[in-house]
Amino acid sequence: MKKLCIIAFSVLASAVAISASDTMPVYLDPSKSIDERVEDALARLNTQEKIDIIHAQSKFCSKGVARLGIPELWTTDGPHGIRPEVLWDEWEQAGWTNDSCVAFPALTCLAATWDPELSLLYGKSLGEEARFRGKDVVLGPGVNIYRTPLNGRNFEYMGEDPYLASRMVVPYVKGLQSLGVAACVKHFALNNNELNRHTTNVIVDDRALYEIYLPAFKAAVQQGDAWSIMAGYNLYDSQHLCHNARILNDILKKEWNYKGAVVSDWGGAHDTMEAITNGLDLEFGSWTNGLYAGASNAYDNYYLALPYLDLIKQGKVGTDELDDKARRVLRLIMLTAMDNCKGNGSMCSKEHYDAARRIGHDGIVLLRNENYLLPIAKPSARILVVGENAIKMMTVGGGSSSLKVQREVSPLDGIRSAASSLGMSVDYARGYVGDITGEYNGVVTGQDLTDSRSAAELIAEAKTKAAQADYVIFVGGLNKSAGQDCEDSDRASLSLPYDQDNVIMALAEANSNLIVVNVSGNAVAMPWVKKAPAILQAWFLGSEAGNSIADVIFGHVNPSGKLPFSFPVKLTDNAAHHLNAYPGTKRADSEIVDLEYKEGILVGYRWHDTKKIKPLFAFGHGLSYTDFEFGKLSADNSVMTADGTITFTIPVTNTGKMAGAEVVQLYISDPKCSVMRPAKELKAFDKVWLEPGETKNVTLSIDRDALSYFDADKHEWVAEPGDFIASVGSASDNIKSTLKFKLK
Ligand code: GLC
Repeated sequence: MKKLCIIAFSVLASAVAISASDTMPVYLDPSKSIDERVEDALARLNTQEKIDIIHAQSKFCSKGVARLGIPELWTTDGPHGIRPEVLWDEWEQAGWTNDSCVAFPALTCLAATWDPELSLLYGKSLGEEARFRGKDVVLGPGVNIYRTPLNGRNFEYMGEDPYLASRMVVPYVKGLQSLGVAACVKHFALNNNELNRHTTNVIVDDRALYEIYLPAFKAAVQQGDAWSIMAGYNLYDSQHLCHNARILNDILKKEWNYKGAVVSDWGGAHDTMEAITNGLDLEFGSWTNGLYAGASNAYDNYYLALPYLDLIKQGKVGTDELDDKARRVLRLIMLTAMDNCKGNGSMCSKEHYDAARRIGHDGIVLLRNENYLLPIAKPSARILVVGENAIKMMTVGGGSSSLKVQREVSPLDGIRSAASSLGMSVDYARGYVGDITGEYNGVVTGQDLTDSRSAAELIAEAKTKAAQADYVIFVGGLNKSAGQDCEDSDRASLSLPYDQDNVIMALAEANSNLIVVNVSGNAVAMPWVKKAPAILQAWFLGSEAGNSIADVIFGHVNPSGKLPFSFPVKLTDNAAHHLNAYPGTKRADSEIVDLEYKEGILVGYRWHDTKKIKPLFAFGHGLSYTDFEFGKLSADNSVMTADGTITFTIPVTNTGKMAGAEVVQLYISDPKCSVMRPAKELKAFDKVWLEPGETKNVTLSIDRDALSYFDADKHEWVAEPGDFIASVGSASDNIKSTLKFKLK
């Protein structure tokens, strides 16, 4: 399609050119390479025009060059749906009536699918909605590593493991960009909590930086070819990430040879000279502090606007950096706004709803299922649904990823419609009242969740109804309000809010057929875990939430999700909190909060396995309605040569009665190494679908990169010759077979 477009366009263009006497200018000619077009355009720009295109002109767009027919650039949130239109210089709604979207599951759910194919589908679907809305850059995906369960934005990211996040972010970027819509991978880097997000100065050793916090960004730009990247609000080396010499110049642009554009987070730039020299290319949302204060339409006062132009006019700075910034921004515009062959996209299509529902299906994690309580199949079963999260809209709120959806099927509605078609009855009890608000930036849920009854009355009602039901489904967890799963705030504890633990314990007393559905983007404490025979981790699933959940509960879909992050039993079982390495210490003489990542590389299961602290549920854990049997692990070689690979094979059989999928995970250990290494590290995985009785030989290949650690002193990756162990299983705490091999 794209090729055809280009031919058609250049035929038309050359026709125009002939009639227009001279040939088409290179910068407009889609048959020329992007680099040729960029250089040609750059040569035509004057200094003012170069300054114009490297900073915002409104909340979400930056200037083009009208004189040359170079269009302005439109950005939009968010990673799991296209944000409703806001006013030119406000966060408030523009009041459009045709900008309701499909909300796709939040990215923790996508990561939990462990299925790169779904990630490609996700990126394409989102790209179509962005294209339809005329957007050139989607401000996402986010791939900050899950370091603390309290981080308010973990729901937007892809978990605790750099390899899983790397594998899952690349197809999303490729899918999105196949529509001519740029990804803007965020928040680069080390933005791992929201508390003090503008002032936290992260202190982390190079080994953890390179092994844990950079890989997903590196994969997104090198394998995914992300056309832009968003620098975070926080600081590193006491320098803001939006103009951080080490992260942006030394690592991103030199070591990784990045040719794309670095976009500031909104209000993330703080200094003109640093912004000039330290790698910022496109500034959004500063001076007016980009968020909620300052003069309106103050875009000429941005650090890369008049202040920069003045320095040039005064001869205090040259224009080399300006040319580099303008080059990168021109490239971004040409790849997106000037690509005339990317189609018109589509919005709220059946395909997008189907994609949202399917990603929900494959991302929901079955944490527990004692005696196969699930799926519910009892004819004419009487079901009681309890909990505010069964009815509360979750697509509004949470910060910049908040959406205005065309529809959102609630868990209660999804369960009701599925049950009724199965001849089952469904009743509802509120159980508790949490947060009855429902508005963000002028988008309102329209729900009235008020309930004046006391907690005791609510629990009494739920208990009474539970005693008369065959099954009780408690739908609780977190929500998108401040202090929950929400930008610009962190949770204060690992516990469920609103006294939900009491409600769950009361329900367990009244009915042993209790199913708990935890709607959250974060781990939560589960003191009642043994009282709930079935537990589903259900994420923020977007427009099709209720249908995805019901499809799993009633067995229309066999759950196959695996946790992208560990659930600690208690907060201090998590590395950062065990070492009191959160939220950091405020400096006496400034606003800056120094936060040292004392755990180094031991993040998540790396910590739990190495320190032998058993998690409540482990990274990679997820059950199925069927059973899988793993055979013996074998390898095509017992020795890996320096530039060679090793391919492992393990037979997996579906020994149950239901078709299902298993994620076969390969972890590598380096038992004798000159440096401390985690007990094991994820280095390959494959998701396989098996019919009942079917066996597949799953193969997983690795090369020496998978055996390497980052030697900070040598500043290079090192794989020490000697013995290694390959461990293959269905979870990080469920290894089925191991095999020793050597690196020569
Ligand atoms: C916000 C977020 C960022 C978002 C941007 C625009 O503060 O940090 O993720 O894309 O501003 O809304």
